[in-house]
Amino acid sequence: MDRIVVQGGARLVGEVAVSGSKNSTLALMASALLAEGETVLRNVPRVRDVDTMLQILEALGARARWDERDAHTVRIDGRVTKPEAPYDLVRKMRASFLVLGPLVARFGCGRVSEPGGCAIGVRPVDQHLKGLEALGARIRLDHGYVEASADRLTGARVAFDLTTVNGTQNVMMAATLAAGETVLENAAREPEVTELARALVAMGADVSGAGTDRIVVRGVRGLHGIDHDVAGDRIEAGTILAAGLITRGDVTVLGVDTATLETTIEKLREMGAMLEVGAGRVRLVAEAPARALRIVTAPYPGLATDMQAQLMAVLTVASGSSVVTETVFENRFMHVPELQRMGADIALDGRSAHVRGVGSLSAAPVMATDLRASAGLLVAGLAADGETTVSRVYHIDRGYERIEEKLRSLGAEIRREG
Ligand code: EPZ
Repeated sequence: MDRIVVQGGARLVGEVAVSGSKNSTLALMASALLAEGETVLRNVPRVRDVDTMLQILEALGARARWDERDAHTVRIDGRVTKPEAPYDLVRKMRASFLVLGPLVARFGCGRVSEPGGCAIGVRPVDQHLKGLEALGARIRLDHGYVEASADRLTGARVAFDLTTVNGTQNVMMAATLAAGETVLENAAREPEVTELARALVAMGADVSGAGTDRIVVRGVRGLHGIDHDVAGDRIEAGTILAAGLITRGDVTVLGVDTATLETTIEKLREMGAMLEVGAGRVRLVAEAPARALRIVTAPYPGLATDMQAQLMAVLTVASGSSVVTETVFENRFMHVPELQRMGADIALDGRSAHVRGVGSLSAAPVMATDLRASAGLLVAGLAADGETTVSRVYHIDRGYERIEEKLRSLGAEIRREG
């Protein structure tokens, strides 16, 4: 089933619960390697990236699988027999690199294929390695694999040269079992870092400061498994709200920590939508085309780069001209040529896209290139005249569970084909 076909024009109305956060889940799954015993994660989204991480953990010798009784629970026993994450799995998902910190911290060594770049950028891992080296790991590059080894890691001060979410998570996890105190300066503040820190503390770690740019970890001798409910996916919530705005609908998302959506909510309000925030829920009502504005993505609490394509889609039919600046990744405009095929008026200038609102988009066959670009194309298709076919939807399935069913439950005319 490789294509999603959406008939534009329906106004989205109703409420839908978001799935658990894909990005939180991946880091939490890696953290299970630090623990003696079983880790249970609930509210896990059934997406391809989670399946890939389960395969990687199994390849390491851990026991990692979906629960027989609950379709959104995974159970992981972090025992490891072969601390090597194979290339054919790592190349599918760069978040696989998150197993390196736990492996070297708990088992004294880890080999992970160097994750290649991807559609949105080179995405090096130099900051991950800088942090692990500071903790005393010996790093060796060997035939495309990164090997990290240490008898026991030792706490240290690590000042990241730039804000990196997975880099912060990787080094924070490694530091939980290092001897002594580690201070992470210029740490990422994303909610996925904060949620991981909370889980590590529940496992017996001593972590403070998560959510700020300075995290302090005091090493302990060992961690135990936990039973953890994954937070709702803030990016899926933002994606569905953007769909509500472009269709001038009345949409409520449920099951998300609204504090993690504040900047997105602020932007949607600036775009002219009316938003009500309740406990775990956000309602958006829009009655007119979005207002044009300037968008600049930035590390949390700035506007999430993962929301950029979806908001740009809305701006293609906004009243006026907008500028979208992507500051986090160097090539995260892959959705632009596809939106242009739908009649969008966009001019690229380095890291900025100049978007002039048009009256309407015209449906067209378009190609997904990466997870959030494809989500942006779906959002655009909801407002285009005619049928838009988004192909290579395996990109969407990496991070969204049954997105077409969620949108259909809000009134979208959308189906999966092929
Ligand atoms: C996480 O990726 C997310 N993925 C991404 O979501 C998200 O876009 C990104 O954070 C930024 O918020 C997961 O959590 C699995 P970074 P991550 O390290 O941690 C550069 C999605 O769509 N960098 O914060 O890999 C890097 O090249 C995905 O769900 C280095 O230079 O992103 C980028 O330009 C896409 N050296 C910038 O930092 C390093 O060692 C931010 O990347 C690490 C990163």
